[in-house]
Amino acid sequence: MATMKTTYMGIGLKNPIIIGANNLVTDPKNAKALEDAGAAAIVYKSLFEEQIQLESYEMDMQMEAYNERNAEMTKLFPDLDHAGPREFLMNLKKVKQSVSIPVIGSLNCVNRDTWVAWAKEMEQTGIDALELNFYHVPYDFNLEEGVIIEEQVAIAKDVVKALKIPVSVKLSPFYTNPLNYIHRLDAVGVKAFVMFNSLFQPDIDTENLRLVYKYKFSHPEDNRLPLRYTGLAYGNVTADICTSRGIFTGNDVAKMLLAGANTVQMVSAVYKGGFSVITQVLEDLETWMNKMNFKSVDDLRGKMSKKNIKSPFAYRRAQYIDILLRSDDVLKEHALH
Ligand SMILES: Cc1cc2nc3c(=O)[nH]c(=O)nc-3n(C[C@H](O)[C@H](O)[C@H](O)COP(=O)(O)O)c2cc1C
Repeated sequence: MATMKTTYMGIGLKNPIIIGANNLVTDPKNAKALEDAGAAAIVYKSLFEEQIQLESYEMDMQMEAYNERNAEMTKLFPDLDHAGPREFLMNLKKVKQSVSIPVIGSLNCVNRDTWVAWAKEMEQTGIDALELNFYHVPYDFNLEEGVIIEEQVAIAKDVVKALKIPVSVKLSPFYTNPLNYIHRLDAVGVKAFVMFNSLFQPDIDTENLRLVYKYKFSHPEDNRLPLRYTGLAYGNVTADICTSRGIFTGNDVAKMLLAGANTVQMVSAVYKGGFSVITQVLEDLETWMNKMNFKSVDDLRGKMSKKNIKSPFAYRRAQYIDILLRSDDVLKEHALH
């Protein structure tokens, strides 16, 4: 019988399936149900800089109003201006205590000071690791890519230094050379890369002439890009790899492990199929491992990574050229159906 045990950032996991950050996990009952269905770890919903700033701003306003009535209040409750995000921390702690599997926190800030301060606050809740959300939504034509990267690497370095628990980075796919970026973060002690985040894109409501942001769940094809970068990164970074986006089946998990992932994250599959999806995925993965005679996840990890396959052109540009040259045949084939 195959064992599905794996390690992620030095943490032992019973299998490679992690539930990615989402709204379901904020309810301790759901967190327990996810654990019971077989999830090996959970990423708690992100704490956003906007939440921290907005809530402390609102609290500041309330304090100001209150100060007019009783100036003593600020002396009695000096920490009151951060009471908002503290509720987030309390709930995170509750979820952590309601399950026996590891819980990973998730942080999504803007200012360097906020990143470090709230990473420390989150560590205090007893979480097992912290995931940082790094991306940049371009709006400034004059801002050079290198500046953005330097800032993010510096933030990662500060957070890693400030915490005792391991730190991962959930990456955006939108970098000119994600591999160089990964190398830079690897060098400052990031312990895992989550590839990739799913970023909202605006749409236009043509009836009401306004921009809308609708949430769209992933499709299975969305896992091709993370698979590519997992296969390229495996064996070239000291950090672990967690493949995320478009993981729906045991076969998808098998592919990501073969490409070099230690773990995968699933969210859309759980929203679409319910908690039992996790049980099914694990069963299918185990059946496949037994069929292929893989005794453990370590046995098969990275077998199909760029490092371990013979073709020097695998995962590289030459493959694209080959596909493009054959595209007429491929299109004809599809057009007939
Ligand atoms: C309802 C919902 C809420 C989410 N909230 C967060 C979040 O707070 N932080 C985060 O990093 N990702 C969040 N995500 C993104 C997921 O963690 C995940 O990266 C994305 O859904 C892609 O994985 P999937 O293809 O398995 O869905 C959210 C996704 C959904 C559907």
